[in-house]
Order: sequence, then structure tokens, then C-alpha cells
Amino acid sequence: MNSESSKSQIKILILSGPNLNLLGERDPETYGDQTLENHIETAEKAADQKGMTVEHLQSNHEGELVDAIHSARERCDAIIINPGAFTHYAWAIHDALQTFDGPVIEVHLSNPAAREPWRHTSVVAPVAAGTIAGFGGYGYQIAVDAVSELLA
Ligand code: DQA
Repeated sequence: MNSESSKSQIKILILSGPNLNLLGERDPETYGDQTLENHIETAEKAADQKGMTVEHLQSNHEGELVDAIHSARERCDAIIINPGAFTHYAWAIHDALQTFDGPVIEVHLSNPAAREPWRHTSVVAPVAAGTIAGFGGYGYQIAVDAVSELLA
């Protein structure tokens, strides 16, 4: 039983972009050795403690993420998104997120600002309440806490 049951209606959609399904195997020096499932469990635990619920979709396809954002407009209160490489050029994701009324939190496991120059641009950042980057899986816990604060 969570400690803040008055918030039990709050639903967070977590979206994961391309190649994040390979976490655990993919470049562990950059992304760590935890799987995407581990990160979603972290988010679910943090959400449960705040009386919130989480649903998750990972997709390697931009249009599928756009569709998920559209469907969240009527159903979800906040979106936490790690767009993977879509971060850096997917304006359709930017435009879809702009139609979403609730807070959007951008999460990255690594710190793109400290990596190759092409990773320094985020087309999602202008439509996000904030960005959490460089803290590995802990970023998902921070993101859930941020949603809780923003919707309090
Ligand atoms: C990433 C950073 C992106 O630049 C990269 O393309 C990813 C993962 C991260 O979580 O650090 O796929 O979003």
C-alpha cells in the first residue's frame, strides 16, 4: 500500500526510444549494465511510493511513439521520455509532445552534452519541463519524483 493514496489516479506514461531495448548488452561503459526492464522497475517502485501508476512502451519506430503520445493525451497525466537517438532530430516527437497538456520529463542515462557534438542538440528539450541526464537508472527515480512535485 502506498503512502499517498490520494494521488492514486495519477498515471505516468514512460516512453523509450530506439535501441533502448538492448540496454544491458549495448555499450555498457556508456549506458551501464542494467536492462530497460530494471529501469522501468525503478520507476514503478518510485511511482508506487507516491501513489502513482506507470505504463511503459519501448519502440524503435518514431510513428509508434507519436501514436503513443497522442493516446496519452486523454489518459495520462505526465510523460517521462528517453527518446534515444530520436532526441537529436525527431521533430515529429517534439510536435506530438507539444500537444500534451501535462508535464514532460526528458531522461537520458548518459550525459549527451558531454558526448559527440551531434548529441548536444535535443529537439525534445524545448517541450519538456526539464531534462535529467547522466545519472544512469537513478534518472528514472528522479523523473518520477519530479512528476510528483510538478503535479502536487
Ligand atoms: C540516450 C542518449 C542518446 O544520445 C542515444 O542515442 C541513446 C541513449 C541516453 O539515454 O543516454 O540511445 O538517450
